[in-house]
Amino acid sequence: MSHAPLLAVEDLEVRYGAATALRGASLAVRRGQLVAVIGNNGAGKTSLMRGLTGLVRPSAGRVLFKGEEVTRLPAHAKVARGLAMVPEGRLIFPDQSVEDNLILGAYAHGGLRTPRAKETLERALALFPRLRERLRQPAGSMSGGEQQMLAIARGLMAEPDLLVIDELSLGLAPRVVEQLIGVLRDLNRQGLTILLVEQLASYALAIADHAYVVAQGRVVRDGPSGQIARDPEVMETFLGKKKAA
Ligand SMILES: Nc1ncnc2c1ncn2[C@@H]1O[C@H](COP(=O)(O)OP(=O)(O)OP(=O)(O)O)[C@@H](O)[C@H]1O
Ligand SMILES: [Mg+2]
Repeated sequence: MSHAPLLAVEDLEVRYGAATALRGASLAVRRGQLVAVIGNNGAGKTSLMRGLTGLVRPSAGRVLFKGEEVTRLPAHAKVARGLAMVPEGRLIFPDQSVEDNLILGAYAHGGLRTPRAKETLERALALFPRLRERLRQPAGSMSGGEQQMLAIARGLMAEPDLLVIDELSLGLAPRVVEQLIGVLRDLNRQGLTILLVEQLASYALAIADHAYVVAQGRVVRDGPSGQIARDPEVMETFLGKKKAA
């Protein structure tokens, strides 16, 4: 099934106790694409990411990765198959050094033992030279932007086929967000497939091929990102933004 998408999510449902955060959500990511998921606060974006990466067990629906059903595999098993995630809020280990956080990202491949893992580390540090300068520093002592660089670099250490990033911009100044968006665009041009969840829709739509809009626990729209960006209903109804006067 060489034409199967890299990732296919079918009718996914995620519940927290009695509350249903996501229902009937479907999406597809093809190799080489950069796909955006946009939506307001509480729309269900993180629940969708947790459900597809295995951080929560979906109550219904299926997740297929590389054509195989992986719905019930735990997150670490999905990482080993090539599906890595940069979680919302980054979740780095603040007391550990930058280097140790990066090594943890290579855990699925046995840490830094192999020459290949060392090359991957070199590539990640070339992408984010600031991390190289701070390798021995506790990760929690870095700025928010630097911590997000670390979280992305840690994801890359898993040598993923698909990198999922939840809220790139969280708590960051626009200038830093723009810089990181540029890095993601470059990584995608070099061949990395990316699924980017972002509340600040315009940043994500600027670099994505295709976009999904999540509102009130459902995927309410999808299409080429240019089309989504021009859709007045998306901006006004689902994202609650008035057109600029
Ligand atoms: N662990 C949890 N327990 C109970 N309810 C939860 C939990 N996590 C999320 N929810 C609820 O599920 C709904 C969707 O939340 P989710 O975090 O998926 O939204 P989101 O689109 O990622 O929002 P944001 O843009 O703020 O990150 C919200 O109503 C939220 O309160
Ligand atoms: Mg979220």
